[in-house]
Amino acid sequence: MKVLKVKVPATTANLGAGFDTLGLALTLYNEFIVEEHDGVVIETEPKNEFLEIPENNLFIQVIKYACERRGKTFHGAKLKQINRVPVARGLGSSATAIVGAIVVSSAVSKTELTDDIFFDIAYRFEPHPDNLIPAWKGGFITALKDREKTYYNSIDFPEDIKAVVVIPEFELSTEKARSVLPERIPLRDGIFNVQRVSLFLSALQNRRYDLLRVAMEDRFHQPYRKKLIPNFDRVVQNGYDAGALGVSLSGAGSAILALADRNFEEIGKAMTEGFSEAGIRSEYKILDIDR
Ligand code: HSE
Repeated sequence: MKVLKVKVPATTANLGAGFDTLGLALTLYNEFIVEEHDGVVIETEPKNEFLEIPENNLFIQVIKYACERRGKTFHGAKLKQINRVPVARGLGSSATAIVGAIVVSSAVSKTELTDDIFFDIAYRFEPHPDNLIPAWKGGFITALKDREKTYYNSIDFPEDIKAVVVIPEFELSTEKARSVLPERIPLRDGIFNVQRVSLFLSALQNRRYDLLRVAMEDRFHQPYRKKLIPNFDRVVQNGYDAGALGVSLSGAGSAILALADRNFEEIGKAMTEGFSEAGIRSEYKILDIDR
């Protein structure tokens, strides 16, 4: 019996000013091991009873939809799901399940996975290409979702920069983190962000790491979302004091991302201390870019 195994990376979106635009894949993976089976059997590691119920399991829901979309009946699967990407922390855990299921369903049906098929299925379950595309393709991408089409492109990411991701104990849903955003942004804030995201991309290209701090400032989402993250400013400041090149909320949060080329442990520790001061437990992970 055929066993398929797929490993999908965590992702961090936005990177400051690139709200709903930039996404980066990280070397932290969820794994999905799938076997043909009559009926659905799910085993999770670490054990998560909620996800072992097929109706709650996003991977199974996406596989089912992907089969139906191809005009086939879904008869079941035996799934072993190894979860390493923390849920609802702005690290693209849902995107891992969606991408994994789409890739597996294409392999099973032996059909080419085109962009059109990918986005048609993926957007039924989550609307964020800045997580979905790096989870699918790896690396660093810029994405643009138009009404009819999604455009994206890969960008080189410097080899010597790592991501220090500080993950607080509390979850924050993307829905909640988007509900605090304003409907309208003043033109001056639009200019502020366009200038910074352009500076960010050029600073990475030319290795002008001294520019990353100002380039990761943002007025589109973090000023609003930080109210949902206790001690956000302190955690960010601690990251910079310990030598981070740039610090931002990871995706919609609650995790905070620091980009750094040295002092990785010191940055992780200083930022977790920032959370501790607010009585929040957190852990940090030092990750490379999944390429
Ligand atoms: N760019 C999206 C947001 C990512 O920040 O809301 C959601 O994971």
